[in-house]
Amino acid sequence: MTWQADLAERARAAMPAAMWQYVSSGAREGVTAAEAGAAWRDVRFLPRVLQDVSHVDPATDVLGHRLATPVGIAPTALLRAAHPEGEVAMARGAAAAGALHVVSSNAGHPFAALRLGGPWWLQAYVPPDRDSLGPVLEAAVAAGASAVVLTADTPVAGTKYRPREQDWEGVDLSWFRTNFAAPGETRWATDLGPRDIGWLREVSGVPVVVKGVLRADDARRCVGAGADAVWVSNHGGRQLDRTVATRDALPDVAAAVGEQVQVYVDGGVSSGLDVLAALSLGADAAFVGRLAVHALAAGGADEVAATLDRLTAELVEGMRIAGCARVSDTPGIAGPGRLQGR
Ligand code: FNR
Repeated sequence: MTWQADLAERARAAMPAAMWQYVSSGAREGVTAAEAGAAWRDVRFLPRVLQDVSHVDPATDVLGHRLATPVGIAPTALLRAAHPEGEVAMARGAAAAGALHVVSSNAGHPFAALRLGGPWWLQAYVPPDRDSLGPVLEAAVAAGASAVVLTADTPVAGTKYRPREQDWEGVDLSWFRTNFAAPGETRWATDLGPRDIGWLREVSGVPVVVKGVLRADDARRCVGAGADAVWVSNHGGRQLDRTVATRDALPDVAAAVGEQVQVYVDGGVSSGLDVLAALSLGADAAFVGRLAVHALAAGGADEVAATLDRLTAELVEGMRIAGCARVSDTPGIAGPGRLQGR
């Protein structure tokens, strides 16, 4: 059994069944969710030889933060149903590993509880009444959020067949949307536009990252509207099923805007070699969603830190064997998706 499968087994045993289904599910038939990991494993490296790899440094700069690792935690909702310490434990684990933590809009702990020393960003869904987001952003920035991640791929939540409403019976979700002025609100704006990027920047006073970008033309629109970075994501295959794998979308987005802004990616990343593939295809950082939730459920902050450390150690080994001393020296990629000069 791989360590990832072992972690998933332990997480499954530790979580309410409905939460396990919620975490595991993809939209509709789950085609996109199922193929994400295999897409990274299909990447073939062209390692370099005769390079000095005595010191391999996985550290990276992300919007003003010097991070020990290019692996970060993607925003996922309902973490208190995975582990009683929810986002607080996730934040502690990320900080221990020197990783960036992105906190979901649907966090179950107040933002102030996340001021634990490590860098964190707030993921934001924009509600129909935009003004109601102001106090949420203010509270997050006051608690140390250093960027806002605008999730642009969710005008409505994609249909998932599991869990069903009744499966949640007996699971305490009373903390749902703790940080929102209108806690019952679960609808999002369906008229998001490029102007929302500038608006978010102005209201929050921190950089804005647009998450859910899969096309070069959209990436250019984001950057033209003032985005500080774009994040290639299909929401873990939880929005439009049969959406392209992020591995396949990344090279075009990186080619379109990678010289101007940073490009991040998530979706099926579960090993250090997946991260190496992401860096090789033009990403500046890669984020893990389900893998981090599994770690959280299986063993709280310590397991989150251990999992991030493990991914980073795998990345470092891959970099060393591929002849890359720094994250900017990625190995070449054979076949489609090859980047000029990489
Ligand atoms: C998510 N994701 C997500 N994204 C977001 O912007 N806001 C959110 O609240 C959530 N919530 C959420 C819950 C769960 C259970 C999952 C699995 C995912 C999407 C997430 O940020 C990320 O894009 C994917 O999870 C990446 O894919 P992997 O790593 O899970 O394969």
